[in-house]
Amino acid sequence: MSDDVQLIKDKLDVVDLIGEYVQLKPAGINHKGLCPFHHEKTPSFMASRERQSWHCFGCGKGGDIFTFVEEMEGMEFREALKYLADKAGIQLTNNFQNEVQSSQKNRIKEINRAAALFFHNFLLRMDASKIAREYLHTRKLTDETIIEWQIGFIPDQWDLLTQYLLKKGFAIDDLVVSGLTIKKDNANIQSMKGFYDRFRGRIMFPIWDIHDNVVGFTGRVLVETEHSGGKYVNTPQTPVYDKSRVVFGLNKAKKEIKHKDLIVMVEGQMDVIACHQTGMSNVIATSGTAMTEEQVRLLKRYSQNMNMAFDADAAGIAAAKRGIDIAIEEGMNMRVIQIPDGAGKDPDECIKQNKQTWFDAVAHAEDVMQWYFNRAFAGKDIHNPKQKQVIATELLREIGRIPYAVERDHWLQELGVRLGVDVAVLRDDMARVKSEEKNNKPRNQETKKPTPIQSVEKTRLDLLIERLLILMLRFPDIIRNSKFEIRNSVLSTGPYASLYETVQRQYTSGGIIIDQLHDEFDHPGQENIIDILLMAGEKDFATLTSGEVEKEFSNLCVLIKDEWQKQEQKRLQQEIIQAEKAHDTEKINILMEEFKKLTS
Ligand code: UTP
Ligand code: MN
Repeated sequence: MSDDVQLIKDKLDVVDLIGEYVQLKPAGINHKGLCPFHHEKTPSFMASRERQSWHCFGCGKGGDIFTFVEEMEGMEFREALKYLADKAGIQLTNNFQNEVQSSQKNRIKEINRAAALFFHNFLLRMDASKIAREYLHTRKLTDETIIEWQIGFIPDQWDLLTQYLLKKGFAIDDLVVSGLTIKKDNANIQSMKGFYDRFRGRIMFPIWDIHDNVVGFTGRVLVETEHSGGKYVNTPQTPVYDKSRVVFGLNKAKKEIKHKDLIVMVEGQMDVIACHQTGMSNVIATSGTAMTEEQVRLLKRYSQNMNMAFDADAAGIAAAKRGIDIAIEEGMNMRVIQIPDGAGKDPDECIKQNKQTWFDAVAHAEDVMQWYFNRAFAGKDIHNPKQKQVIATELLREIGRIPYAVERDHWLQELGVRLGVDVAVLRDDMARVKSEEKNNKPRNQETKKPTPIQSVEKTRLDLLIERLLILMLRFPDIIRNSKFEIRNSVLSTGPYASLYETVQRQYTSGGIIIDQLHDEFDHPGQENIIDILLMAGEKDFATLTSGEVEKEFSNLCVLIKDEWQKQEQKRLQQEIIQAEKAHDTEKINILMEEFKKLTS
């Protein structure tokens, strides 16, 4: 089994793979970039081709190509295995095939794929689909588009799809988990009574993830009646479908988004498809939700610029604004697309009326701050102090979200000029607005997942020893001749105890052998401590001359001894106090003896 994993690791290079997500630049023998797992402005994320591993010194995450795609794509190991094997063009051995099959998530993706084909073939081939085909043609979708987007149809029947998929050999439990089949409370597995299709009488649009897996569906009712339910019905939350993570159309748009360095975000699936059909293919949508942080993070991999179109009524603006706020906080450059009055209520209609109007609207999208400014000032009297304050409060809230100081300052200046107020006054007021915002909605703090060495709270002594170890691993040859006089007892506790012991043993017997350390400390499923320390060495000590290395080394030895002494003194003092309380004279004497030895 592990042969397959090794084979995949040999075929796929960690730097190339991560390079698909993160801009990496060579730094010494490693590569460096902005960590995709936490917010940062200076790079602390490193990938090492030599060791085929990665680590972020900011958030502490790290590992190999498998852990990277697991983190990045939210995959479990067996999904990552299939994904990377496909990428490497490796046929998994039987053992592993079973393993892949045993993953419910993989099975649900299979079910979705089969269902998408069923809907699609039904639309193309069946007489019962004639009205659906006609409907799509009145909406001006071409046959090519219908095929490209694998659009389908399911007639209004009780359990057509469920029966089909059962006959194909899928298990009823999996069908229910996939969201395609609904199980009634009184359902009976033996007679198969009480199971029915979620999607009935609807035009079906598959929803893909960025790797072209069908993860869910959205179904549009063909004829709206009292009983037809919502206009659109979506797959519910399932192990493979999380509406706050999926971006509709991104699998088809990602290339063009990168190429144009622009994301065009619209509201509806039909809008996305209409845009692509008319030749604008950097267009995507969320599936009936306000844009989420996860979606923004995903999109940021492809471009930092987003032009967004949304319904200009109050509800539409409110829904869009939540997403815009999140995107601004994530550092996206946001612009607002405005379809001129009378040119259609959404991109789909606008394109049908006059596609040039839509292209122009996208090209002339307005900077979101400018848009906020215009809205805040509209209809207000800037000579009225109360109204001035309203404008200021509203705009300071928006300006405060911008994570970049220079940009923030630009808009503060602009606001100052337009209101006739000193910028210093606005800065003061911004502090007030910000603290009010904070009190109003406590944002849920992200919890960091600790890596092995971070799981223990590090003391100052631990940190000094960490630096010493880094130095010894990074420059074993330079340090070979240095005096090393830290006693073993220094390291008897703390996160590096066993590593330090081994390093010290190797050191005193003639030199450190990295490969041996690797063997000893490489625990499967855990990130390798040696690799992390080696990468930290690249990061912090890459430019040191050999003289500086020696100096740093002897400094550290002194500091460690001092720090250890301080810690020990404190410990002994406390124990002595305890022994005195207990009137344990014998123990007091032993402790006093130790204390004397320590300070002598
Ligand atoms: P709209 O009502 O604006 O629909 O909803 P639309 O995109 O213009 O659709 P057509 O042109 O009438 O076919 C915008 C988006 O909101 C979500 C869908 O994703 C839809 O595309 N939505 C809408 C739902 O999820 N459920 C609904 O009942 C309605
Ligand atoms: Mn529409």
